[in-house]
Amino acid sequence: MQMIEIKNSLRRIFHSYAKETLDYHDLKEATEIFKTSLFNWHSKNFLENLDRENLIAENGIAIGPYWAAMCLDDLMRTRQFIRGITKAFDEKLKKQSSIEVIYAGTGPFANLLLPIFQEYKTHQIRYTLVEINPISFSILQGFMEEFNQEDLDITLVMADASKLKLDPKRKPDIIISETMQAGLKSEPQIAISQNLLNQADEDSILIPQNIKLSLGLSTNRSSNKEYKIEEFYKTSLVMEVNKSTLKKYPNGFPEVQTKFLQKDLNINSHLSLLTEIQIFEEEALKINQSGLTNPLNVAALSQQDIIADYIIHTKYQLGQNPELIIKIM
Ligand SMILES: C[S@@+](CC[C@H](N)C(=O)[O-])C[C@H]1O[C@@H](n2cnc3c(N)ncnc32)[C@H](O)[C@@H]1O
Repeated sequence: MQMIEIKNSLRRIFHSYAKETLDYHDLKEATEIFKTSLFNWHSKNFLENLDRENLIAENGIAIGPYWAAMCLDDLMRTRQFIRGITKAFDEKLKKQSSIEVIYAGTGPFANLLLPIFQEYKTHQIRYTLVEINPISFSILQGFMEEFNQEDLDITLVMADASKLKLDPKRKPDIIISETMQAGLKSEPQIAISQNLLNQADEDSILIPQNIKLSLGLSTNRSSNKEYKIEEFYKTSLVMEVNKSTLKKYPNGFPEVQTKFLQKDLNINSHLSLLTEIQIFEEEALKINQSGLTNPLNVAALSQQDIIADYIIHTKYQLGQNPELIIKIM
């Protein structure tokens, strides 16, 4: 596919994602076109040549280029991010004539911005795209050389976004990163958000705006049943990641203790870790709407063991293996 055709498809793809009412079939079709255009562009042999190796970095793993490109398969994730990002752009552009945007962890195709680029005038937005993986980065560079013939202001940086020092003259108005998995496991979402937020002004927008991790009790779960938040008998918030908590806990989130009563555990003895994501304002991902918000099994307590209340200790561990450490007492 020629770049001109890819660009035309991207306009249609943008409208499918941005559409107010959710039209699942249209979204699926648009995503297939999105994926096929990109995979075809990449020398038509993406599957053989593209590296699937994850990279172990100082503050969490960076998934391989193939996996990063495949994030597009998570339709609702991409839709909600694209809708949230455009709303954030529009909100900032109401107050100022131009904005500075940083997108950390782009993968090989900057999936979350690619359908958006052509929707704004070239002078309105200055973009910095950051990617740590050299293979993803070089694909992105090649793609952008062909894509960006209109002089969009895009700077590409190959770096670890959790450590990158930004030019103080280019403070970001909007910080975007989707370097996470359900339960904020393994990837450096927190370290990246914290590093970039520390270099931005008070009124900057962080996307996702808020990520909630909770513990939930349910009846013993059959593996293929989809659960909604209302189906968890008891949920208890253990941490929220947003601008204010990232500022409040510069050296790590505090340990939290959650008490579950014996009488509740007798009815619902299955413990899960739940993730909910507010991308921007009302654009959100609820439990089970995306791979990022699938409940994670923590433990199924056996009835014989439930002879008292349980205290669950949780603490988020930063570093090479970021994750919520959960200890059941
Ligand atoms: C989950 S993928 C998301 C890809 C794409 N942004 C999307 O949303 O479809 C995360 C991407 O972030 C990159 N990444 C992970 N850690 C990073 C870091 N410390 N600095 C910069 N990029 C990072 C990975 O290499 C990968 O390409």
